[in-house]
Amino acid sequence: MTEIEWWEYDDAAELADAIAGDIQFVIESAIDARGSAVVALAGGKTPFPAYQKLAAAKLDWKRVTIVPGDERIVPLGDPLSNVTQLGKLFIPKGARVIPIVPQANADYKSAGRSADALMQDLHWPLDLCLLGMGGDGHTASIFPGPDFDEALNGPKERRMLGVMPDPLPPEAPVARVTLSRQGIVTARALMIALTGDDKRRVLEQAIEQGPSSPYPIGRVLADAELPVDIHWAP
Ligand code: 6PG
Repeated sequence: MTEIEWWEYDDAAELADAIAGDIQFVIESAIDARGSAVVALAGGKTPFPAYQKLAAAKLDWKRVTIVPGDERIVPLGDPLSNVTQLGKLFIPKGARVIPIVPQANADYKSAGRSADALMQDLHWPLDLCLLGMGGDGHTASIFPGPDFDEALNGPKERRMLGVMPDPLPPEAPVARVTLSRQGIVTARALMIALTGDDKRRVLEQAIEQGPSSPYPIGRVLADAELPVDIHWAP
């Protein structure tokens, strides 16, 4: 059974402080232990205030590699691009950021090529994976649907990464590369940040249901070997 630790805060500001502090701690520990840190950061809005706080952290950023936990295959600068949004918030001086190769045509094939490139480019396992969760139980870009297995499991040659199945589900209108379950649960530190009672109920149900959950995050966490820290605010 996955070991889950819930951390509850009074509001989103407290949540952001806590997440920023935890990310900084994980990065510092990874640098102390291995000389560098590779962190996958969630897209979506919840962690943004934490990223803004993290930008002010006194860290040896040149030893840090940052990659979005999932990416839409759109040109850099497109508002849909997670790494573009991250860059607006914080890409500290000296940190290495791996934008998943932007493609003019957001299609399934180019997503596969991007995943191959990223697979070679990252050092696995991640030191940290920070996830968000949608109201439908999606996490990273692993969306519910009859064939989300492709994203969940990632084809064997790139098991740490998956690609949303083709045709794309309506919620994921452009091709996406995403951390797969393997890429997520092998991270040395796994954190989830979410707000609101509805999402909390979905996540609690998903954890309860485990590997047969209709919520992707339930199937992802079912395999987590390390404790999972869930940071929640109303
Ligand atoms: C993405 C994210 C996605 C996000 C959830 C929650 O690229 O969209 O990786 O999984 O974390 O949709 O988003 P919010 O924090 O905005 O609710």
